Amino acid sequence: MGRYWLLPGLLFSLPLVTGWTTSKCLVTEGSQLPLVSRYFSLCPKSKLPFLAACFSVSNLTQTLEAVPRTVEGLCLGGSVSTMLPDAFSAFPGLKILGLTLHLSRLLPGALRGLRQLRDLSFLDTPGGKKSLFLPLDAFGDLISLQRLQISGPCLDKKAGVHLPPSLQWLSVQFSCLQDAGELAGMFPNLVQGSSSRASWTLKMLDLSQNWGLKMASPGSLQGLQVEILDLRGTQLDAVAVKDLGLLKLDVLYAETATAELAAETVAHFELQGLNVGRSKLGSISQEALASCHSLNTLGLSGTGLTKLLPGFLAAMPRLRRLDLAGNQLKSTMLCMNETGDVSGLTTLDLSGNGLRVLPPAAFSCLPHLRELLLQDNQLLSLEGDLFQDLQQLETLKLGRNPLLNLGKNWLAALPALTTLSLLDTQIVLSPDPGFWGAKNLHTLSLRLPAHPAPAVLSLPMYLTSLELHVASGTRHWALFPNIFPFLETLTIKGTGLKLGVQNASEVFPALQKLSLLQNSLDAFCSQGTSSIFLWQLPKLQSLKVWGAGSNSRPCLITGLPSLQELKLESLQSITQPRSVQLEELVGDLPQLQVLQLSSTGLKSLSAAAFQRLPSLQVLVIYSEEDLVLQDSLGEYSPQMPRYIYILQSTLACQCDNAWMEPWVKQSTKTYIHIRDNHSCPGEVRVSHRDSLTSFLWDHCPQTLELNLSLASSALVLLLIALPLFQEARNTWIPYLQALFRVWLQGLRGQRNEGRRFLFDVFVSHCRQDQGWVIEELLPALEGFLPAGLGLRLCLPERDFEPGKDVVDTVVDSIVSSRTTLCVLSGQALCNPRCRLELRLATSLLLASPSPPMLLLVFLEPISRHQLPGYHRLARLLRRGDYCLWPEEEERKSGFWTWLRGRLGRP
Ligand SMILES: *[C@@H]1O[C@H](CO)[C@@H](O)[C@H](O)[C@H]1NC(C)=O
Ligand SMILES: *[C@@H]1O[C@H](CO)[C@@H](O)[C@H](O)[C@H]1NC(C)=O
Ligand SMILES: *[C@@H]1O[C@H](CO)[C@@H](O)[C@H](O)[C@H]1NC(C)=O
Ligand SMILES: *[C@@H]1O[C@H](CO)[C@@H](O)[C@H](O)[C@H]1NC(C)=O
Ligand SMILES: *[C@@H]1O[C@H](CO)[C@@H](O)[C@H](O)[C@H]1NC(C)=O
Repeated sequence: MGRYWLLPGLLFSLPLVTGWTTSKCLVTEGSQLPLVSRYFSLCPKSKLPFLAACFSVSNLTQTLEAVPRTVEGLCLGGSVSTMLPDAFSAFPGLKILGLTLHLSRLLPGALRGLRQLRDLSFLDTPGGKKSLFLPLDAFGDLISLQRLQISGPCLDKKAGVHLPPSLQWLSVQFSCLQDAGELAGMFPNLVQGSSSRASWTLKMLDLSQNWGLKMASPGSLQGLQVEILDLRGTQLDAVAVKDLGLLKLDVLYAETATAELAAETVAHFELQGLNVGRSKLGSISQEALASCHSLNTLGLSGTGLTKLLPGFLAAMPRLRRLDLAGNQLKSTMLCMNETGDVSGLTTLDLSGNGLRVLPPAAFSCLPHLRELLLQDNQLLSLEGDLFQDLQQLETLKLGRNPLLNLGKNWLAALPALTTLSLLDTQIVLSPDPGFWGAKNLHTLSLRLPAHPAPAVLSLPMYLTSLELHVASGTRHWALFPNIFPFLETLTIKGTGLKLGVQNASEVFPALQKLSLLQNSLDAFCSQGTSSIFLWQLPKLQSLKVWGAGSNSRPCLITGLPSLQELKLESLQSITQPRSVQLEELVGDLPQLQVLQLSSTGLKSLSAAAFQRLPSLQVLVIYSEEDLVLQDSLGEYSPQMPRYIYILQSTLACQCDNAWMEPWVKQSTKTYIHIRDNHSCPGEVRVSHRDSLTSFLWDHCPQTLELNLSLASSALVLLLIALPLFQEARNTWIPYLQALFRVWLQGLRGQRNEGRRFLFDVFVSHCRQDQGWVIEELLPALEGFLPAGLGLRLCLPERDFEPGKDVVDTVVDSIVSSRTTLCVLSGQALCNPRCRLELRLATSLLLASPSPPMLLLVFLEPISRHQLPGYHRLARLLRRGDYCLWPEEEERKSGFWTWLRGRLGRP
């Protein structure tokens, strides 16, 4: 019997169309990760091609069913207390797995099959002291595992878990560790004696933030070799590390009571690096220094140092990097010893020390210095010869100093300088081009003074990167020179900067990246009737506008032929909030791939905007309220960006959004993720629906406001073709033939107008509704008067000739029937085959130039948005061509009256 269904041959071979949206998981490609990084904070940073983050996971099996099998990174948050065996067996290619699930146990085999996994994290509330039970061979299959992070949960001291030999980074943080030696009980093969391995080399052992860790049982980590050991945020003193029995240690991050204690450890391991930042040292004695000769890197930030002893650098001949930030050094004494000894130091950080004066010879013993950080001090002036010995200095940061005066030619002494920061200083700029003596200077950050002259902004010509901060004021600056041929990156921060730039593409021919921060965009916009972005830069690839809320009209960003990435953030004025449509913000941007909008006042998205962004791949919307997605997007769907993220935003509780739910579920081209957790007024949350869905169900259903607006036949054909190519890839040829036949017969039919129809009514219905057709419809239509109408009905399963081609038969039957009657129910619409039948039926009817009458009978209320091909239906149906089968007996006679009326037999 099955072969007599309407077009069954077409239907069996169809792939089931499922959209790849999952409400709980956010899927992204690695290249887009920075755009949605806040949702991947659970996962270690990664450069994988394809990742997913899932939230509020309570049933892992169920959640993972919706995740594409090809993801290589998976970050899961929620609460799942027990992880069952083979939890991830569907993801054998997984490389990174981050679990914030409040797990209490893994059953054996939970991580089975993850042979490519490199990175595994178990995270839980810091200090929650929740225990996590791992079976002995939990990591047995993880032969590629390089990093294991257990942050938050507490492992049993005698867990005895075997670590895979490939492991290089081990972190046990925020846990219940009290004794570093407990690690040997948790992971016995880490230490000597318990396995065949002689000793294990870890690149990093991170025990930081174990607030209760204060002991180190002597010899407990016998034989372990560690390159970096991190003990920050614990009570374990640096000196205790000496006795753990480590075979090797290169770098130690720890806190310590006194410098002497740390120095003992340095001497014991001949450490290359020591960082005791935030320890309360106060001073460092000669004795301590004497033990530190092996150090290459020394971190002493925030240790309360007030002075350095003479000979500080001489004691550490191998020292290259020295961090003295955040201390109370009033002047540096690094080079006070006049013996002429020089240090090999390359990086020196003296930021945040309250330094007021630098003596002329302050850096005279540091001829190899490449990076000097002096920001956040109290320096007022710099003497001309201060830097004369720094022939190799490349980076100099002087920001956030009250600097007023710089000696003439002060930069001439720095021939290698490439990067200079003068942000937040009071420097009076000289219009003299010689002011920027350094020939190689290419990266400059500068604050422009508010008022005093000059009005000429003279800058080094060979800059590649420039950051300008502008104190408030709206004066015009003329630029010198007239052209910056190499400038690629320009950042302007502050309100009201007016650069006297008539033609930006002439002045900045190479500009690729432009950021306008806290800036009134007005200065870069035309002020006519339409407000358009003026800087037409042919090579600009990236534009970011952040915080420009003064203009009541949006500035249209358009006509930038190379622009690939556009970020518009916080453009909404607090005092005069406005509503904008996407097409008011972005115009023709042929190469744009990434568009991120955040707090712009965006209210509506329609196809019109996307038509001008043909290359768009990712659209990210953050913090927008009451968005309406116009249903024109549905029709435009195949050309929509591949990824649409609507995050921390709300969709308007309006029926205009009702079309969207089925679209989001079925869209195969576009991945749409909407995180909207607001409540529509008066809606109570139903467990499996969000409030918006409930609202739409309650307020925008039943009334089928079908609208007959006949479009051009070309558009109709296009609409017919789209679902065909999407859904019936393998079977479109017979279907097109069918369409063609309908069209031909329709033409013939037009010629012999008065032809006779074989049938009065062709009844299209699904198996689910067969009962109703046989019990209710047949007697009423086929029966004889007065109860019935005496009509000739065509029912596919009854009247089709066995053996005849089904498509032909359907086409013939439709064409030889005066009227086509479609019977619809929610049950039928959930069945993909029935949905397609309706789609095909409407397409067939539309293709015919003189469509026969189409009637719809709804066996239950159905939202128009649930109807496939609604827009096509709308073109076929007139008001009154559809009716709802009433449940109440007394209203049924009304239904039959309607049907008789439509069939012309009152
Ligand atoms: C989780 O979901 C799967 C598949 O949907 C189901 O079979 C299973 O019973 C669910 N488990 C629980 C504990 O609800
Ligand atoms: C200079 O350094 C040497 C060796 O480190 C030391 O002996 C001498 O006392 C220092 N001189 C001064 C003036 O501090
Ligand atoms: C700006 O300069 C470019 C390059 O010199 C030129 O092609 C363009 O016509 C100029 N535009 C205007 C408005 O002057
Ligand atoms: C969504 O909001 C409800 C209350 O309106 C809250 O209970 C729930 O935790 C929120 N969910 C998320 C994922 O933010
Ligand atoms: C029908 O469509 C036309 C044009 O598209 C529109 O102006 C009209 O408001 C629509 N009517 C209904 C009832 O939707």
